[in-house]
Amino acid sequence: MASTIVLVSGGNRGIGLEIVKALLESNTSSDGMPYHIHLGSRDLKKGQDLAANLPVAHGNTVSAIQLDITSPQSVDNAVATVEAESGRLDVLINNAGVNDDSIADEATKMSTLYDINVIGTSRITDAFKAKLLLTQPTDQKKEKRIIHVTSSMGSIASRLNPGFEFYQMPYTAYRCTKAALGMLTACHAYDLKDEGVKVHAFDPGWVATEFGGGDPVVTRKLGAVDPRVPGLACRDVVEGKRDNERGVIVSINRDTYPW
Ligand SMILES: NC(=O)c1ccc[n+]([C@@H]2O[C@H](COP(=O)([O-])OP(=O)(O)OC[C@H]3O[C@@H](n4cnc5c(N)ncnc54)[C@H](OP(=O)(O)O)[C@@H]3O)[C@@H](O)[C@H]2O)c1
Repeated sequence: MASTIVLVSGGNRGIGLEIVKALLESNTSSDGMPYHIHLGSRDLKKGQDLAANLPVAHGNTVSAIQLDITSPQSVDNAVATVEAESGRLDVLINNAGVNDDSIADEATKMSTLYDINVIGTSRITDAFKAKLLLTQPTDQKKEKRIIHVTSSMGSIASRLNPGFEFYQMPYTAYRCTKAALGMLTACHAYDLKDEGVKVHAFDPGWVATEFGGGDPVVTRKLGAVDPRVPGLACRDVVEGKRDNERGVIVSINRDTYPW
């Protein structure tokens, strides 16, 4: 019987790595079959070193794959590798994303962030959805999913809500990219509705990682959660536990945000 084949972009650190770990320790996949995780990493060696040492359980497996979502060549190579190694993809987790507040010029910042958070995510989704997400294993029907890791900061409806926890924060360019990712989520859900592919926008909460040049030791003291929290919450999405929450951003602690 076929494993569930998953690809996590930016799987080499932070939230992506915790999503990989949460899946590797799972025995609760929706069809009871193990996972094979393709751990996406821009630096292949880093990904391979991690994959060789991650704890696995319940028959789950992991392998590293070189993946830079801004590079059409890297994305094409990743499609070819997944096709050769696994024959298809069942779950695409678009976790890779950036914020860079060190870029002073707003237009340059917009362009840099859009290139990764929106255009890169669109590129990799199109590359995989055409060939692999729509392919079924011969012996079993698999649930197919796309999960875009977004942010509540991309919620347009929350932007002018003084009660929203990130009301005071600036980050206009980052917010715009994640708002655009909300539209991408809705469009992918529309495009793939007849194929039965489930599409979610997932917000990991405020997480103690190196995101945007942050220091996890400092942000943890200020209230950011351990990356294991969104790792497990994203696994819930993969395993169908948030399927009744549609047309919203699904978050940790069973929260949701409006688009
Ligand atoms: N941390 C938070 O509080 C927070 C809150 C809301 C949403 N998010 C979202 O969660 C996701 C993961 O964030 P994180 O906190 O885990 O950040 P992180 O620790 O900075 O990790 C970002 C990951 O994305 C990868 N990446 C960056 N550019 C890439 C590219 N062009 N192609 C492929 N991979 C690329 C990085 O690879 P390298 O190691 O090679 O740089 C790294 O693996 C992002 O989409 C972010 O917007 C984070």
